[in-house]
Amino acid sequence: MKSAVILVAAGKGERLGLGIPKALVEISGATILEHALRVLEELNPAQVVVVAPQDHIETFEEIASRFDVAAEVVAGGATRQQSVKNGLALVKTPTVLVHDAARCFTPAAVFEAVETALESAKSVVPGLPVTDTIKQLAGDKVVKTLDRSTLVAVQTPQGFEVASLRRAIEETTSDFTDEAGLMESAGHITKVVKGSAEALKVTTPEDLKQFQGARSQRVGVGTDAHQFSDSGELVLGLLTWPELPKLEGHSDGDSVAHAIVDALLTAAGLGDIGSNFGVDRPEFKGASGEVFLSETLRMISAAGFTVSNVSVQIVGDKPKVGPRRAELENRLSGLLNAPVSVAATTTDGLGFLSDARGVAAVATALLAARS
Ligand code: CTP
Ligand code: MG
Repeated sequence: MKSAVILVAAGKGERLGLGIPKALVEISGATILEHALRVLEELNPAQVVVVAPQDHIETFEEIASRFDVAAEVVAGGATRQQSVKNGLALVKTPTVLVHDAARCFTPAAVFEAVETALESAKSVVPGLPVTDTIKQLAGDKVVKTLDRSTLVAVQTPQGFEVASLRRAIEETTSDFTDEAGLMESAGHITKVVKGSAEALKVTTPEDLKQFQGARSQRVGVGTDAHQFSDSGELVLGLLTWPELPKLEGHSDGDSVAHAIVDALLTAAGLGDIGSNFGVDRPEFKGASGEVFLSETLRMISAAGFTVSNVSVQIVGDKPKVGPRRAELENRLSGLLNAPVSVAATTTDGLGFLSDARGVAAVATALLAARS
């Protein structure tokens, strides 16, 4: 992305009432700040400025340094608008996206839609149609029922031309709850693009419970296939099968272990076997399936997950799995410290798996977030 992103995270989280800044509250084993930074990592903005509470700068810097975003951390102010102003002072790009850390699950596509719309507008917000009927009150009496079809609920990131936003923020004497409102008061027209249900803001304890509930379980899938070589001894599902040759491929070619690694990593949202154990981690070159699985377990645990169960299906004519199914399940369950069930199937005479030229495996993993 060619825009800068200001991630405003300097709020106290008073309505959440946990006594810590909202951005440091955990959902599914990672802080709100970390979830928000993970999305930014995916977007690779020209510049990232994180606005942090004055007395937590070091903590925020330490967290941000673990992400590939080169974030600058700056202290926030008493109001959101002041925090944005402090962040804006560091921005060097012509356009900027101001984003609430509290909307930490906003999909990357929303950022991209806002940035695209900025090509023809100076102020852009993502919004969703309002589904409740909204009434305007005076005290506890309704004075007006608003026409819902003309309303949107506005989210972030909000995109702006930097020069106009700087001018508006310098010149205003009022405090706005969002920068688009500020821009409108300065005479700019705000364009609305489609927001996302996932961009909801964590504000109240009920919101937090809902986010935690929705994200407490995660499923992942992995597949792997290798052909038999003409030497060695087959290793599959961490067991050796002396009657068959080794599978080709990196390491021991253990398709079952590799499929489970991918299922676990994708469930945790941590990439896949290639992105984690590729050329930049030479210590894993030629490692056994057991080593991959153990390291994967460590990684998903560090990301706040435990394994609920794993199911794996071996596809191919050989080996005959039935007689060793219990042994396979015991070995894998023991290592993963969770139930692993193993099934097997052939492919009805189709393809390289049918004439015993190779073995494929498909795995599904279910993870639970530690609360
Ligand atoms: N924010 C900020 N500086 C402030 C106030 C808010 O950077 N002085 C940020 C928050 O960190 C949050 C976003 O603006 O990411 C939206 O604000 P809100 O949801 O109100 O968060 P808090 O102010 O932390 O919560 P509360 O109002 O309950 O204290
Ligand atoms: Mg607030």
